[in-house]
Amino acid sequence: MGSSRRVSAVVLLVVVVAALAVTGVYGKEKKKKEKICNKGWECSGSVYCCNETITDYFQVYQFEELFSKRNTPVAHANGFWDYQSFITAAALYEPLGFGTTGEKQIKMKEIAAFLGHVGSKTSCGYGVATGGPLAWGLCYNHELSPSQSYCTDSYVYPCTPGAEYYGRGALPVYWNDNYGIIGEALKVDLLSHPEYLEQNATLAFQAAIWRWMTPMKKKQPSAHDVFVGNWKPTKNDTLSKRLPGFGATMNILYSDLVCGQGFIDSMNNIISHYQYYLDLMGVGREQSGDNLDCAEQAAFNPTAPTATS
Ligand SMILES: *[C@@H]1O[C@H](CO)[C@@H](O)[C@H](O)[C@H]1NC(C)=O
Ligand SMILES: *[C@@H]1O[C@H](CO)[C@@H](O)[C@H](O)[C@H]1NC(C)=O
Ligand SMILES: *[C@@H]1O[C@H](CO)[C@@H](O)[C@H](O)[C@H]1NC(C)=O
Repeated sequence: MGSSRRVSAVVLLVVVVAALAVTGVYGKEKKKKEKICNKGWECSGSVYCCNETITDYFQVYQFEELFSKRNTPVAHANGFWDYQSFITAAALYEPLGFGTTGEKQIKMKEIAAFLGHVGSKTSCGYGVATGGPLAWGLCYNHELSPSQSYCTDSYVYPCTPGAEYYGRGALPVYWNDNYGIIGEALKVDLLSHPEYLEQNATLAFQAAIWRWMTPMKKKQPSAHDVFVGNWKPTKNDTLSKRLPGFGATMNILYSDLVCGQGFIDSMNNIISHYQYYLDLMGVGREQSGDNLDCAEQAAFNPTAPTATS
């Protein structure tokens, strides 16, 4: 009796120790799986920083190739944009997956896609421009002849007297409420000082990457999400022809101003920049991916009939 009780006590002890050991090992394995990596200022404090980061596959000479005409005398933001300001701005978002998600090719494609939007929106290239119309991205850092002051009634983000909210930045920001929202996110008072976006290239890139990484509404994906494969379309999305790919990034950023209108120039121009950059980065336009356009997509957030971008 006595010895059998001792035996069962020993068995129990062994079981408990084994269970503890298993939990311990499991805990360690789990920790290892979620290893945090530090690559210095460029990318630190996240699992995304363990793989290649942007400077590993996108270097200054490539930036110069993509935006080869931006510092020519006729360019309107001559001397403003540079590689370092892009990398410094990206460093805030690399730990969240910007240019650091998935296989190397997906990372490179995300940078080509993001910069494709930027290049298209800041281009002063036209049909007969030297170097071709796609070589003129980052030609502007602000709208040249605004037709209005882009001030709308807003309780939360009222216009600062004298301030103008015309298009500025790498993915141009318009309207006081958009300056207010982005300023709040970046902790810079853009509502009082919208001009910062045409004075500071790092801030201009930060605002653009924030826009790329942030869903416009709750329960909606960001442009980053639909591009890197973080997003599963609902039945409604599928019925609206919204599927993962470059096309859906245009839907999120420009809505029905660009999407659901067939193969219009403004949409084709953004796609052309993306593919031109894929070629220059050595990925190749044949890797553009499925659902490249949004010609037939219904907007995630249709614009109100009276509002414009
Ligand atoms: C790191 O790279 C591997 C292989 O390319 C990829 O499967 C994995 O998803 C990457 N990690 C993250 C956090 O994206
Ligand atoms: C430009 O913006 C960045 C990011 O907000 C900031 O760190 C930097 O100090 C700014 N530079 C100048 C000259 O204001
Ligand atoms: C799906 O779309 C229909 C029609 O536009 C809408 O009434 C419904 O609320 C949507 N369902 C979801 C889950 O979004």
